[in-house]
Amino acid sequence: MIAILFVLDVIQTKDAVRRNFPVIGRFRSLFTTLGEFFRQYFFAMDREEMPFNRAEREWVNRATHEHDNTIAFGSTKCLTPVGTAIFVNCAFPTLDEDAVEMQPLEIGPFCRTPFQAASFFNISGMSFGALSSPAVLALSRGAKMAGCWMNTGEGGLSPYHLLGGADIVMQIGTAKYGVRDQQGALSDEKLRQIAAHEQVRMFEIKLSQGAKPGKGGILPAVKVTAEIAAIRGIPQGEDSISPNRHPEIGSVGDLLDMIARVREVTGKPTGIKAVIGAYGWIEELCAEICLRGTESAPDFFTIDSGDGGTGAAPMALMDNVGLTIRESLPLVSDILHKYGLRERVRIVASGKLITPSEVAWAIATGADFVVSARGFMFSLGCIQALKCNKNTCPTGITTHNTRLQRGLDPEEKSVKVANYCMNMVHEVQIISHSCGVSRPRLMGRKHVRIVQSDGKSVPMDILYPRPEVIASPRALELPAY
Ligand SMILES: Cc1cc2nc3c(=O)[nH]c(=O)nc-3n(C[C@H](O)[C@H](O)[C@H](O)COP(=O)(O)O)c2cc1C
Repeated sequence: MIAILFVLDVIQTKDAVRRNFPVIGRFRSLFTTLGEFFRQYFFAMDREEMPFNRAEREWVNRATHEHDNTIAFGSTKCLTPVGTAIFVNCAFPTLDEDAVEMQPLEIGPFCRTPFQAASFFNISGMSFGALSSPAVLALSRGAKMAGCWMNTGEGGLSPYHLLGGADIVMQIGTAKYGVRDQQGALSDEKLRQIAAHEQVRMFEIKLSQGAKPGKGGILPAVKVTAEIAAIRGIPQGEDSISPNRHPEIGSVGDLLDMIARVREVTGKPTGIKAVIGAYGWIEELCAEICLRGTESAPDFFTIDSGDGGTGAAPMALMDNVGLTIRESLPLVSDILHKYGLRERVRIVASGKLITPSEVAWAIATGADFVVSARGFMFSLGCIQALKCNKNTCPTGITTHNTRLQRGLDPEEKSVKVANYCMNMVHEVQIISHSCGVSRPRLMGRKHVRIVQSDGKSVPMDILYPRPEVIASPRALELPAY
């Protein structure tokens, strides 16, 4: 046997290592594969792995249980790296009896059916297709229990989203899955049908997402099952192509027209989702809103981080395109503030905000809401196997293999989803009380200091001072990017 392998390795020309080191060279690829697996369990330190380290994953795991989420002895987090956020605790923290319960926040005051969003922590867009049916069902049931919303992602509204009874945000991706006519254009009739579900509270027009800005997608024919074809409104068994942009949105004017159309047809709050790179367009958008009237503004703006997750995307886009939420959140919040639109346009932040300190940072910096995708995947039992694009997810979350899906019991996991959300809210509240305010949304930039390269930390309100509100946006010279 070894002799046969030896000869095969020597005569083949594809792999230089096996040709030069017959038989023994074969162990390299085996060890590379096993190394990825073993490092996670035996060698990687608690704060070392990417995209999420063990300490973060373990926090989510503990938060999915009802019992107290405490750790012992002391923090394993190093507080010296540049950019670390440190909350400014108050000498006289808020007494428990003075703490204020989470308050709902209205989104879309000018539409026929504004939404009173109960929770500041919610489930980010992940499509049915990227996620399995038991995963979608567990999320929708968990969201209902916790009182948070769940975003459909771009794959359309499935029965599994509705079954749990949660508030739903219907996402409109570039292929308009679920709300398209036969040619792939937006259908008012389909929009009306989706909006007729009371549970569907808002619509989100997706311009881009952090992991793949400017990239469309192809859903291969094999994945276009009868069920997925019906939900997305596409022919069964044929490749389905998503354009890399909404073909009809090529300017801020087009974007506002589209928002107005969706809002008018559905009567529900309509917002946008984007990862920020160039940002001159946001100034242009705000100036155009000031011309058209504040009613014309998107009801919310979901800002995704350049290091956001996805089911599948090219590494080049995933790694280096788009600003991270650390930079883009204060930037967008300040532009909206400058144009007097900060209260009108609710800000939803996303991107690796899976533990209380990150969510608290986002709220203090300028977000009204935080959404998470991968945090909720961890609550479903994700082990960061990084196989979402392979249909071999070992936890049944991102696979259509029914044998693997069997491991995911929607009933049991929905409780974990709800616990994660409720424990998150609770611990963000604890941080706010430590800072001396009665609820998280009263935290501001003065409550967070950011560690600098000289080792000192500087308050965020000094690093990012609020700009002056401009009197006449028309007179403003807009940057040319
Ligand atoms: C499996 C998976 C599927 C996703 N599908 C969508 C999608 O359909 N639409 C979208 O806008 N974002 C999608 N995202 C991105 C998330 O909504 C979110 O913007 C991003 O992952 C950042 O949040 P996180 O760091 O909490 O995961 C997906 C992410 C994952 C992990």
